[in-house]
Amino acid sequence: MQSLCILGRQPALGTAELESLYGSGAVIPIGRVAALLDIDPDEVAFDRLGGSIKLAKVITTLNTTDWEDIEKFILQTSPENAKGLPGGKMNIGLSAYGLKITPQRLTRTALSLKKAIHNAGKSVRIIPNKELALGSAQVIYNKLTGPNGWELIFVANDGKTIIAQTVREQDINSYTLRDRGRPKRDSHVGMLPPKLAQIMINLATGDRKDGLILDPFCGTGVILQEALLMGYAAEGSDLDQRMVDYSAGNMSWLLKNFSIKNRDIILEVGDATSHGWGHEPQFIASEAYLGQAFTAQPTDAEIAQNVSNTNLIIKKSLQNIAQQMPSGTRLCLAVPAYHTPRGDFKHLPLVDSIEELGYNRISFEHLSDSELLYFREQQIVARELLVITRK
Ligand SMILES: C[S@@+](CC[C@H](N)C(=O)[O-])C[C@H]1O[C@@H](n2cnc3c(N)ncnc32)[C@H](O)[C@@H]1O
Repeated sequence: MQSLCILGRQPALGTAELESLYGSGAVIPIGRVAALLDIDPDEVAFDRLGGSIKLAKVITTLNTTDWEDIEKFILQTSPENAKGLPGGKMNIGLSAYGLKITPQRLTRTALSLKKAIHNAGKSVRIIPNKELALGSAQVIYNKLTGPNGWELIFVANDGKTIIAQTVREQDINSYTLRDRGRPKRDSHVGMLPPKLAQIMINLATGDRKDGLILDPFCGTGVILQEALLMGYAAEGSDLDQRMVDYSAGNMSWLLKNFSIKNRDIILEVGDATSHGWGHEPQFIASEAYLGQAFTAQPTDAEIAQNVSNTNLIIKKSLQNIAQQMPSGTRLCLAVPAYHTPRGDFKHLPLVDSIEELGYNRISFEHLSDSELLYFREQQIVARELLVITRK
């Protein structure tokens, strides 16, 4: 059976993550919103995906994108399928991606579906569409992935429409707790979103499910936290004793509040440009030093200064790491790219000389390297993800 992943806000990152975990041959990107996986939904490790918001099982693909035809198909097939559900009222919601319809039209279809299933003897509550796609909170609150729920997903794909049923929805409450619930936070070192940390870990580990992950710029420890939650051992170091203490506080909180099997954590103070770690981690995932935290658009001169500072620190750190890691060690490093007043990005020079530093860049089949950029509107510093291996 095929799976369908609805991708998050930055689909290229979600696609890269799936490619990294399951291989490029198993991933078929669908426009900029979704990806098909040649894998049974039961085999997809959805909880570790930071770049996918919904996981669905593919029901069928119709040779049309005409909503009248799609509606006819689900009105014909759904009453029979609903008969197999447990007794009691069922909840149904519809989500459409890339199709030329309105939320009102989608709600009308949901009402017709309610009637058709009701006529077959089962009572139904529908979730009206304010938008074309239901949000995670609506899917969770209305238990649409439960035994008496359906979220039917319709995704346009090259003149065809994929129809799928959601089986998992991202756990927004857990993400909020892992982000805002941590006792030690510091807005100056930036707040790495847990979902981005997961993506970076997946890009660093590929399909390997165990081993030690090192973060040599660990800050408050978001990467370490997500690594432990995903079952890896974690080692963090940071130049700043205060940050190491913050990470330690956050790790104790994590162990108390979450079920963590592998509790191997190493924390130490260390300058990444010169530190000797004494362990050989299997992977490195790290949000490196991003430079000055700007509150207003910096001038070109200020950007140039930051590029120069961060480039030097990260370059020296990569050289130091290269001396201590065996060939083949895989890294995912987030480095800064600065949004200029002209709207383009100023990249660090080291991005173009990664080979000279002792690394090879890993390429992805379904996206270009330049798309591995995490950026929110209004942000001045974007994070550019470098996925590389030690030569
Ligand atoms: C962008 S923050 C990382 C934030 C972290 N991902 C988190 O979630 O909290 C960068 C960290 O690098 C540290 N740092 C700066 N220069 C460093 C160096 N030369 N060696 C090690 N750490 C350094 C800073 O103290 C800061 O905590």
